Amino acid sequence: MAIEFDDQLGERIVDTTAHADDEQGTLRPRKLDEYIGQERVKENLRVFIEAAKLRGESLDHVLLSGPPGLGKTTLAGVVAHEMGANIRVTSGPAIAKAGDLAALLTTLAEHDILFIDEIHRLSAVVEEVLYPAMGDYAVDIVLGKGPAARTMRINLPQFTLVGATTRLALLTGPLRDRFGSVLRLDFYSDAAMEEIVTRSAGVLGVPISLEGARALAVRARGTPRVANRLLRRARDFAEVRGEGAITDDIAADALAMLDIDELGLDDVDRRILQVIVEKFGGGPVGVDTLAAAISEETDTVMDVYEPYLIKLGFLQRTPRGRMATEGAYAHLGLEPPMPAAQQWALFGVDRE
Ligand code: ADE
Repeated sequence: MAIEFDDQLGERIVDTTAHADDEQGTLRPRKLDEYIGQERVKENLRVFIEAAKLRGESLDHVLLSGPPGLGKTTLAGVVAHEMGANIRVTSGPAIAKAGDLAALLTTLAEHDILFIDEIHRLSAVVEEVLYPAMGDYAVDIVLGKGPAARTMRINLPQFTLVGATTRLALLTGPLRDRFGSVLRLDFYSDAAMEEIVTRSAGVLGVPISLEGARALAVRARGTPRVANRLLRRARDFAEVRGEGAITDDIAADALAMLDIDELGLDDVDRRILQVIVEKFGGGPVGVDTLAAAISEETDTVMDVYEPYLIKLGFLQRTPRGRMATEGAYAHLGLEPPMPAAQQWALFGVDRE
């Protein structure tokens, strides 16, 4: 598709400092060898990167999917570092107009990495600019208006698009098809989480006991971003209430103060389960209704909270809505409702 060119350079839609000011900051690994966990994803990337470098080409476009906080942005930075390339970071909602994306694309250098977070939130017109950019390394610009309008094709350098999404299903087919690989990040194992906590503590220069690291790791819901947040809070406790080191006791106290239970569930997770059980009879309940009942955004419930509750087997997504499982009842210390057939049997009715 040709686009109308708006000569507004995309400075504000791009964060060229990559991740300088975000919450994880310096804790992000830069090299593939420093990146802990996600072994399959890493192995794939290692091969693709090596092959691209051997051929002297840019890396083929990569799509990363998975719940928030698992390291999609970090991995994009790692890919850039391994390719010896620059990275430009932006996100789907930040690119308002087709011209914004065109301006951004035309300032890329050969083999640069363009990282678009939340790529499923690109508008249709912006997405159409990506098709020729990804496929042919070109953007089509419309000059002028009306009958005098002409199209001009601008060739782009060979760049790599790294897209990230928490909702693979929301990506359109044509966009998804243009990625050379689609890699899914999953929740990290407890062992990987422990390694991440220990590594991060080392980077922050805070001493931590083995048990302390384990306690933070197992309560971080398989998510490095959560682990690093817990670590920073535990460090606060260590500095104010202790001697500066995160001991077993300091870690336990910090987690108790933060109201995080033994499975890593926080207040919102528990409220989700409680509302389904207490207000909606265990479900099914629609996600919009559920989100409204706990005063959260539907997207937040779907992206941030549900994936881990589903992984724990506490929540089910059914065509009729969300349901709490027996495991959820047990975790809340409640008796699960009697199955319908058993209730009927109480009245001597066989409904099996
Ligand atoms: N910090 C955040 N994610 C990480 C990972 N996967 N490996 C090492 N450090 C991390």
